[in-house]
Amino acid sequence: MTPAARVQAAIEILDRINAGAATEQALTGWARGARYAGSKDRAAVRDHVFTAIRGRRSLAALGGGDDGRAIMLGALRDAGIDAGTLFTGQPHAPATLTAAEAAAGRTPQGAEAMDLPDWLWPLFRDALGQEAAPAALALRDRAGVHLRVNTARIDRPGAIAALADEGITAIAHPAADTALTVTDGQRRIRQARAFDTGLVELQDAASQALSLAVPLSATARVLDYCAGGGGKTLALAARGLGRIVAHDAAPERMRDLPARAARAGQPVQIARTGELAGLAPFDTVLCDVPCSGSGSWRRAPDGKWALTPERLDALCAIQGEILSAAAPLVAPGGTLAYATCSVLRAENEDQVARFVGAGPGWSLTTSRTWPITGGPEGTDGFHLSILTRNT
Ligand SMILES: C[S@@+](CC[C@H](N)C(=O)[O-])C[C@H]1O[C@@H](n2cnc3c(N)ncnc32)[C@H](O)[C@@H]1O
Repeated sequence: MTPAARVQAAIEILDRINAGAATEQALTGWARGARYAGSKDRAAVRDHVFTAIRGRRSLAALGGGDDGRAIMLGALRDAGIDAGTLFTGQPHAPATLTAAEAAAGRTPQGAEAMDLPDWLWPLFRDALGQEAAPAALALRDRAGVHLRVNTARIDRPGAIAALADEGITAIAHPAADTALTVTDGQRRIRQARAFDTGLVELQDAASQALSLAVPLSATARVLDYCAGGGGKTLALAARGLGRIVAHDAAPERMRDLPARAARAGQPVQIARTGELAGLAPFDTVLCDVPCSGSGSWRRAPDGKWALTPERLDALCAIQGEILSAAAPLVAPGGTLAYATCSVLRAENEDQVARFVGAGPGWSLTTSRTWPITGGPEGTDGFHLSILTRNT
């Protein structure tokens, strides 16, 4: 495909998304009908579409409209590319620009320039202060590819060497002793032997730092209450401390966890909700609760535009219910680690303050928010509060 044909494909996919399709669904639908597209074409079209969704609001302002054509026009202007070189009217290319399109477009302002809905921008400012604008702007970029070195099996230099043998270049990431940034060969990782044999896992570097900050001891009984796919379960297990039990209200989400744990050489016990009371008390319970995902919207940009104040309230209510359900499973003197992949106070500090303020049973020991950061070593945003059970 020519560069112009890739832009035209992105325009058509964006129009399907505007008509209500989810981004992945629209991309898959296009790919099925585009047998002529090679893997580089598919990757380039995917990049166009994700760039457009992440920056949808500012690009619509720059392009003078919110259909696929205007957004791609805005994206080209944003990248400093003369749109006339791609909107050529040649076969498979976008039609030439009309005079109205060429004249349309303006510089985005305020929340629009931050690529956030109006109601969310003040919440970002409230949570992150000076870091709000860099965080919002970082959400417009593609996320870096980070690996967690399974230090139970190999050290960081060893993992870098094993990846290099397979043509993948990685360097140490400063956020965590286990973390690597992949600088070349990102698309080969899932096929790499180092990945297949459990030497490395894909995990954001700040998520690794969070997992390392959860208190564990050699004899600890540990419960990952919202284990999901098991990213944090495996990161905890890799520390080689204590005995890890994984649980999720939707057990099917943990489907691949036993195989991944076996591949990593780390035993993890899977428990159903009805089994937890019999396994309690636990010394440490991690609640990595469902949240807005505001810290990782560059990976799942649909979420940024789908969130509403009502949906945020509903998520906060679920988070409160999870804290209440998990708290009795913690032994006296034990730890409840409350985590989100969000930077919003409502889901973090406010949620924790409400829980601690509800009675004398709990105190807040430490709290940390990792802001969303940009650049090649940029990390997702996370929050972790460590709560200690007093009685
Ligand atoms: C943020 S995800 C967990 C991600 C996972 N810890 C990881 O690192 O890959 C939140 C998980 O909470 C689960 N969940 C939702 N409601 C729950 C509840 N009431 N009790 C336990 N888990 C719940 C969801 O099914 C989802 O898998």
